[in-house]
Amino acid sequence: MLGVLVRRYSTRQSISEILQQKSLGKCDVSGWVRNARKQKENTFLDLTDGSSFTHLQVVLPSSLVPHDLKNHSALRVSGDLIASNHKGQEVELHAQEIKVINSCEEPYPLQPRKHFSLNFVRQFPCYKSKTNSISSILRIRNRLTQAIHQYFQDNGYIQIHTPILTSNDCEGGGEVFKITETKSKTKNNSEETNLEYFDKPVFLTVSGQLHLEAICNGISKVYNFNPAFRAEKGRTRRHLSEFWMVEAEMAFVEDIHVLMDGIEELIKNVTINFLKYQAEDLKSFAKSAKVEDRTEILRNMVSLGFHRITFTEACQMLSDAGQFDKVVDDFSREHELYLCKKLGGPVFVYNWPRSSKPFYMRTCQEDSDLVYCVDLLVPGVGELCGGSLREISATALESRVEGSELEWYIDMRRKGSAPTAGFGLGFERLIQWLIGAENIKDTIPFYRSSHECQL
Ligand code: 4AD
Ligand code: MG
Repeated sequence: MLGVLVRRYSTRQSISEILQQKSLGKCDVSGWVRNARKQKENTFLDLTDGSSFTHLQVVLPSSLVPHDLKNHSALRVSGDLIASNHKGQEVELHAQEIKVINSCEEPYPLQPRKHFSLNFVRQFPCYKSKTNSISSILRIRNRLTQAIHQYFQDNGYIQIHTPILTSNDCEGGGEVFKITETKSKTKNNSEETNLEYFDKPVFLTVSGQLHLEAICNGISKVYNFNPAFRAEKGRTRRHLSEFWMVEAEMAFVEDIHVLMDGIEELIKNVTINFLKYQAEDLKSFAKSAKVEDRTEILRNMVSLGFHRITFTEACQMLSDAGQFDKVVDDFSREHELYLCKKLGGPVFVYNWPRSSKPFYMRTCQEDSDLVYCVDLLVPGVGELCGGSLREISATALESRVEGSELEWYIDMRRKGSAPTAGFGLGFERLIQWLIGAENIKDTIPFYRSSHECQL
């Protein structure tokens, strides 16, 4: 029975399929009214089901217009799909039957044909998917997710589901959310003061890197695509408390340029895929969010090599600019954006001072104060990606790690591990950069940031 139901639902045509296939004749479709225009003999409905940016125009004779037909209500319509002579659409549906499944009560927060800023739309998580801008972003996000998996699967990587709960703070930044169980009550109703559920501190993961490294001790090319959590203090337009990170780890890599090649190839591949399948949504987003259409910029980006400069060279450029204080061991967002603007595109900055970086990065042979690591900076956003060669010396690691929590990590170095390199790419920052969204909060269906956790 279930099999039959599932088959029926999945074979029902979406508006996107109807518009692509253009099979004229009988047609049955469900969706929401985006806009209704009453004329003397007919009412014209823009019907959408979220499957594509383009809506289906329904021509409804006045005699069939239900009394409860309102913008945003849910409908089922059947009739004839015919070739249209209206500009901008190849087919239209001439309704013979219409059923209002659920009408829409007033007041509705997002009226049709009015422009609402994304800051405003963000307040309505249940209604925002009916807006042009957010529905485009969600389809783009879906496409990019698929493109990322496609890239890794086509290139011999094995996906590893690394845990969400972890006993390590991989980045050592201290921005971790700690897990605690809700205190239960004992029979006599006094509060239990039991030990921590896991007998040791456990956190929401900030990165799956160390787990990927553990698996990369036997499988030489691995990746994950998971949520990561950071208790970021500041609220900026590029930080979330819960975000998705794409991470890859490759064994037998000892050259930082090979790592940069991998990152660049992934990003270009995914962008090409995105431009091929989601060009309409990219344009639609630009129009509805009133931002620059990025199509040409992205086409250009995939055809050019990303810049590669060392941290020392980057500092020199910043100093030459004459508008910044002396850089110590890390960049501010202004530094990052300046470098991208100056060089005109994405910039890899590699070989950084050890003092600003986590314990696991490999010491540079040329200079022991530096580590083989790389940040990819992109225009408008700043840091998109961070990666490194991993330290191979157990002795070096021992001197950097306190306590026993990472003994397993150091021990791998003594038992046949291969040198590895890897990176993490912030998925929402990738979307933000590709589409030119001002705020990262609009690139994820439900954003979480300090003091904000809607739904
Ligand atoms: O540079 P990060 O901290 O690197 C790591 O976590 C490594 N362990 C990854 C690895 O080598 N496997 O984070 C990687 C990327 C950043 O470059 C940034 O794009 C994104 O994750 N990111 C955030 N995105 C949104 N909100 C936040 N709070 C973010 N923090 C990091
Ligand atoms: Mg980083």
